[in-house]
Amino acid sequence: MKRMPFIFGKSTNFENFTDREEEALRLIQSFKSLINTTIISPRRWGKTSLVENTANRIMAENSKIKVCLLDIFNVRSEAEFYEHFAKGVLKATASKWEEMAANAKEFLSQLVPKISFSPDSQAEISFGIAWEDLQKSPDDILNLAENIAKSKKINVIVCIDEFQSIGDFSDSLAFQRKLRSHWQHHHNVAYCLYGSKRHMLLDIFSNVAMPFYKFGDVMFLQKISNDVWGGFIRKRFEDTDKKISLEQAEYLAQLVDNHPYYVQQLAQQAWLRTKTSCSKAIIDDSLQGIKNQLSLLFVGQVEEMSTTQINFLKAVLNGETSFSSQEVLKNYRLGTSANLKKIKAALLSKEIIDIQGKKIEVLDPIFKLWLMEDYF
Ligand SMILES: Nc1ncnc2c1ncn2[C@@H]1O[C@H](COP(=O)(O)OP(=O)(O)O)[C@@H](O)[C@H]1O
Ligand SMILES: [Mg+2]
Repeated sequence: MKRMPFIFGKSTNFENFTDREEEALRLIQSFKSLINTTIISPRRWGKTSLVENTANRIMAENSKIKVCLLDIFNVRSEAEFYEHFAKGVLKATASKWEEMAANAKEFLSQLVPKISFSPDSQAEISFGIAWEDLQKSPDDILNLAENIAKSKKINVIVCIDEFQSIGDFSDSLAFQRKLRSHWQHHHNVAYCLYGSKRHMLLDIFSNVAMPFYKFGDVMFLQKISNDVWGGFIRKRFEDTDKKISLEQAEYLAQLVDNHPYYVQQLAQQAWLRTKTSCSKAIIDDSLQGIKNQLSLLFVGQVEEMSTTQINFLKAVLNGETSFSSQEVLKNYRLGTSANLKKIKAALLSKEIIDIQGKKIEVLDPIFKLWLMEDYF
């Protein structure tokens, strides 16, 4: 059987990865010049895929560059961060576990008595240290990538995914200060920090009062354009001996606002339902299928919202723009205009909406559809 031509729910690579050439080149350039980079976009727009692809490309090109990919989505504290960080850097900079062990002994000498190795298939390192103690002097860990890079005459690119998580650490500001004060002295390492929650990350990286102000290049990842999606979808159908017209392929991507994750999901569903040639009816059916499949999840989401938050979403979907006008406040029962601020902040932090200037957008195109067709 042929491999499924569309993929979603994990970062995508090789033939399922499309476009992003400009962004990839910019990243490669930054990595090679050791310029720190921040990438910001809503979830599921393709940050992880972009960074992983770029990492593979650059490591294939140049054996003197090692990329360390870390995901801190589940990391809840500074102590956990150090452990995760140390393991990640050690793994990325060694090709065998013996080498990793040697590096750990050399560069984390303080911790050596408490390090133990299990040379199984995964070569997991387990540190027996009380990580809480480390908070007092994390220098060896925070400088680990630089020290290894210097000694081995390589460059290391440390990529930290879901970076917004550090905003939830206790005393996050002090922690950010520690990171910055170490990392800014590194000359053989670049840091690529990326995640969602634009407003929070913008505060971390663009606020003069914050430690990471002007840390590096800030990239706002956009969606992939409709015509690129059209060509991609048609090609993936053709590769697997099925057909879709360019017009239908573009229509498919448009239906889900060109949202990368959902384009792939919808394309997969349409592909599965297509025997030989895809039609508008198949695409529309597939969309309803996905919406129904997600409806329970959406019901749960709505249950966790306050009435005014839901009313606010209704106003957004009805195309209202002047939210603080008395008329809108009254018609949608949004309370006072002071309340409006709270509603927006809550929906932003749940990543349900995004606000750019005057434009307010519901981020999940299927949720939007479900609200309009089934809920309101
Ligand atoms: N360049 C791309 N080409 C094709 N599909 C993509 C691309 N980038 C992202 N996607 C789709 O979107 C999904 C989510 O991408 P991901 O990289 O996990 O986003 P993020 O890290 O921003 O949350 C992927 O699983 C894939 O289906
Ligand atoms: Mg991601």
